[in-house]
Amino acid sequence: MIKNINSLSSKTSDGINGTCIIAGDKSISHRALMFSSIAEGTTQITGLLQSTDVYSTLNALRELGVNILTQDQNVVRVNGVGMHGLQSPKKILDLGNSGTGVRLLMGLVGSQQITATFTGDESLSKRPMRRITNPLSEMGIQIKDNGNGILPITVSGRSNPLPLTYNSPVASAQIKSSILLAGLNARGLTSVSEPTKSRDHTERLLSHFGVFVDTKTNVDGFYVASLTGGAKLKARDITIPRDPSSAAFLIVAALITKNSCISMPNIGINPQRVGLITTLREMGGNIEITNVREVGGEEVADIKVSSSSLKGVVVPAERAPSMIDEYPILTIAAATASGSTLMENIGELRHKETDRIAVMAKGLRLAGINVDEAASSMCVHGLAEKKGFATIKGGFRISSEHDHRIAMSFLTLGLISENMIVVDGVSTIDTSFPSFVKTMNRHGARID
Ligand code: S3P
Repeated sequence: MIKNINSLSSKTSDGINGTCIIAGDKSISHRALMFSSIAEGTTQITGLLQSTDVYSTLNALRELGVNILTQDQNVVRVNGVGMHGLQSPKKILDLGNSGTGVRLLMGLVGSQQITATFTGDESLSKRPMRRITNPLSEMGIQIKDNGNGILPITVSGRSNPLPLTYNSPVASAQIKSSILLAGLNARGLTSVSEPTKSRDHTERLLSHFGVFVDTKTNVDGFYVASLTGGAKLKARDITIPRDPSSAAFLIVAALITKNSCISMPNIGINPQRVGLITTLREMGGNIEITNVREVGGEEVADIKVSSSSLKGVVVPAERAPSMIDEYPILTIAAATASGSTLMENIGELRHKETDRIAVMAKGLRLAGINVDEAASSMCVHGLAEKKGFATIKGGFRISSEHDHRIAMSFLTLGLISENMIVVDGVSTIDTSFPSFVKTMNRHGARID
């Protein structure tokens, strides 16, 4: 845990090596807690991510009346309350920094005869919620905000929401999941379509708990997920795959530093999460994926990465949802490549924990890297000579702007920096990857 530390610095590394154990997947950890809470029976979750975001969800579920036992670091037992068993909380539910936590829980609360008020930290309190509350209102769920579409928001659910057919304008797993969860107790078919398929952990994990979720991709390329309300979730133990979005920092760290070779076992390789690996391979990255297997309805594999001289590429627009959280760290790989890397269809990055396009562009420019920025695209002009490795001068300071992935990205850039890079506001790293500094240093980074 980084907790009370405000700043960290990072400087040149001689290589990233060894076998690295990455913690559990954040998206699946949130869902495992929520779904087991409304299941019938007791679920044992192994490998739950021990991060502040996941604990915000866990604590909110306890406030909603669910008995959750955290047995040891690795195993959590959830006594499900059934499809209508959640209770109105006595306290306001503070989801901290977690967009997934608050948005999915609003859907879950929406399908119960209870009322809950949601709030969050400075960053979450600026993020758009109408993308969730508008469709939930259409399902007859009562939503009260201050007229501005941001937190705090009070949701008064109903035991039988109206079923909804919703065409989402953006590919967003949070929108899709929130509506499907509200549809669990609706009388009829609730269906969500999205322009490109976003991560499908909700669909997979609901199936794991015995709920039939119909999925298809239409001829026009739209992906549709539907379920009929009234089915019961049945408790079933879960093992959480290790988080590819956390592994991303070690993958890029190993690629951009000389003399690196790192292995990471049991990483989730859901097709909607591996856009970064596809892109880095196209850039010339030496990344091996072996021992592909299935764990609890999700594919996992062992990943091995070694130093590679990278070249710029055009990242296809339709790949964005499968690497939406990885663009900050991709810009670091792009900065150290030869040639330019163009990223299109990334307007959603402006609505994450911070405006990730603006903040990454600002930091990269401080590092002497040319960046072109537009409303929904970004082009990074890499520093390396053809088939070479880049270094930067460094010696600057940047704020994370309350964004864990920004903080970890610039600390990773520090690995090729002659003078140290200082990042302020690093406690936010605890939201997704509390052991980031320890893990990076154990394998050859110099962050302190
Ligand atoms: C998440 C979905 C993504 C992602 C977020 C986690 C999830 O957001 O950025 O970090 O667990 O469903 P969107 O679905 O809004 O793009």
